Amino acid sequence: MTGYTPGEQPKVSGLIKLNTNENPYPPAPGVFSALRSVDPARLRLYPDPVSSALRKAIAGLNKCSEDMVFVGNGSDEILALCTRAFVEDNGSIGYFNPSYSLYPSLADIRDVEKRPVDLGSGFEWAMPSKYKASLFLLARPNAPTGMNYPLRTVSSFCAKFKGVVLIDEAYADFASDNCMALARTRKNVLVMRTLSKSFSLAGIRVGYVIGHKDLIAALFKIKDSYNLDYLAQTLALAAVQDVAVMKKNSAKIIASRQRLTKELEKLGYFVCKSQSNFLFVKPPRMKAAEVFRKLRERKILARYFPGKRTGDYLRITVGTDAEVNRLLFELRDLKN
Ligand SMILES: Cc1ncc(COP(=O)(O)O)c(C=O)c1O
Repeated sequence: MTGYTPGEQPKVSGLIKLNTNENPYPPAPGVFSALRSVDPARLRLYPDPVSSALRKAIAGLNKCSEDMVFVGNGSDEILALCTRAFVEDNGSIGYFNPSYSLYPSLADIRDVEKRPVDLGSGFEWAMPSKYKASLFLLARPNAPTGMNYPLRTVSSFCAKFKGVVLIDEAYADFASDNCMALARTRKNVLVMRTLSKSFSLAGIRVGYVIGHKDLIAALFKIKDSYNLDYLAQTLALAAVQDVAVMKKNSAKIIASRQRLTKELEKLGYFVCKSQSNFLFVKPPRMKAAEVFRKLRERKILARYFPGKRTGDYLRITVGTDAEVNRLLFELRDLKN
């Protein structure tokens, strides 16, 4: 099998890193004080195996009971667990193409049939009627396009679909709506979030998923005994207790996204309508791979996905104002 290739984590310093959709702003001050008050002597002991305090706080945040919350070592761990819990050995995994490029790799690891569904020519929703799979992995907003599908379309798909739908809302805090109500009401829907993007905590690897207690109980059965370490539980708890900082940072990123979109359009770029913290853009003249290389020479790292559906585009994370200005300066200078 071909394994998943994660975005580059560069070893050289001085690069403007706009390739893995991290948050350019620091996490909430409460995370800093929680880290400072960690007693290293506590690390002698195993952590709480079921992350009780963190799950309680997440349940409060999402207005559901604690038995509807599962936390994982990043949402990537939750995705892998879902492919084990909800897919029979002769089952199948569905996802859109293009979408998060980890999904097909997870199906390969699980050694089950892949049932990709091609998005429309403008990357819009295009689900065939009578489509079937054991598990459908649905990123909303989608990656790498950043686009949202209409809520009603997703909702009626979930109502008809016979398997489990995992709605991957890694970027929902940058969007105008979300599907959390479906996780609270539908027995076959899970909604997953991560602390890696809007909460500025990619380094501690914490994601969570919300859904019917029977689905959540299935994940508990198969998880590693201590899947979230003590530091991750402690710092994630501090972060979710200070949602105001996350919301303020997200609002700044949305404003920068709108400015960057306008400026790129002035330069002749085609920009997909983003509801996330990144833009998927097509340069007016030069090939996207060429712009990617030239930006890297100029110390700006974007993400390029070769391939039929994605090869004409670049994915660029929205950075700070200064980073956005530098990016625009270099792109104007490239005259691409
Ligand atoms: C759609 C989507 N889902 C999940 C993830 C992974 O998130 P985490 O850092 O929580 O594993 C990413 C990361 O880029 C993503 O783009």
